Amino acid sequence: MSFIIDGKKISLQIKNELRAAVSALKKDRNIIPGLAVVLVGSNPASKVYVSMKEKACAEIGIYSEKHLIDEAVSTEKLVELIKSLNKSEKIHGILVQLPLPKQIKAEKVIESVSPSKDVDCFHPYNVGRLLIGSPVMPPCTPAGIQELLLKSGFNPEGRHVVILGRSNIVGKPLFSILCQKAIGANATVTLCHSRTENMKELTSSADILIAAIGKPQFVKADMVKIDSVVIDVGTNRVNDKTAEKGYKIVGDVDFENVKNKVKAISPVPGGVGPMTIAMLMKNTFNACLDQTGGRNRGDMYNG
Ligand SMILES: NC(=O)c1ccc[n+]([C@@H]2O[C@H](COP(=O)([O-])OP(=O)(O)OC[C@H]3O[C@@H](n4cnc5c(N)ncnc54)[C@H](OP(=O)(O)O)[C@@H]3O)[C@@H](O)[C@H]2O)c1
Repeated sequence: MSFIIDGKKISLQIKNELRAAVSALKKDRNIIPGLAVVLVGSNPASKVYVSMKEKACAEIGIYSEKHLIDEAVSTEKLVELIKSLNKSEKIHGILVQLPLPKQIKAEKVIESVSPSKDVDCFHPYNVGRLLIGSPVMPPCTPAGIQELLLKSGFNPEGRHVVILGRSNIVGKPLFSILCQKAIGANATVTLCHSRTENMKELTSSADILIAAIGKPQFVKADMVKIDSVVIDVGTNRVNDKTAEKGYKIVGDVDFENVKNKVKAISPVPGGVGPMTIAMLMKNTFNACLDQTGGRNRGDMYNG
């Protein structure tokens, strides 16, 4: 029986430590960290993610603003809103929920967020810093994955890590983090995508396999190495008549069959998802410290 990596439990520890730090910041300096989340349109999954972020802010004591914007908004109007949030003293972190509707120039919107308030590391300036190993507020999902591994005792150092998926949100930044010459990284990283040949050969050689492709139960037991560690990032809705909502959420890994072969595996839900939110809270707190003179860059709160 393999070890189930409990993202809920680990994220709760992080959130509890943050709650204490937020309360101390308020008491000592009368400062409250603030996060603005911008949601354009009515994508049901995005709505769920935004409400989870709002709830986490309330639990920890972080001030939050939710900006619900009409689907038909123009790029210019959206950039205007971001610029006003850049100036707001109450707001230390800005998160634009992706994906954006097709008529919006996503790049323009992302580049309008002040790099110091860019709490999901989307701005090209921060993406560049991440790649060269300069201190940065790391992207939430990849940072959550690294934290999940480290807090569960699976240091990627020296290991062969295979990542499935090369998106700008998960695969590529995760590659950037894990290949760094740094504590908790130093991995040998292989990045796979839809054009990768000999996929099974590569996944079967992974000490740590991380699946982020958005294909329900794609990773089967014959694709993983015995006693490896598997992290499932996938969040896929599949029809399920027995479920109250008519669907259930499954990962990119065939959990039931893979779990019997590996040393450890993260479940969906309850694995990477809660870690992403905990990292967003941590980045918002750190952004607040940065903007109010509370810490030097690189001197991260590392709870
Ligand atoms: N839990 C969380 O907090 C969280 C956060 C973000 C994302 N997610 C989930 O993670 C999954 C991936 O999200 P994303 O935004 O990274 O996805 P994405 O932008 O859709 O990218 C998917 C990646 O997977 C690759 N891919 C697709 N089919 C493949 C196949 N058969 N073999 C190998 N590679 C394949 C694609 O290759 P090409 O580049 O060649 O097209 C692409 O690089 C989704 O289920 C998403 O919901 C979860």
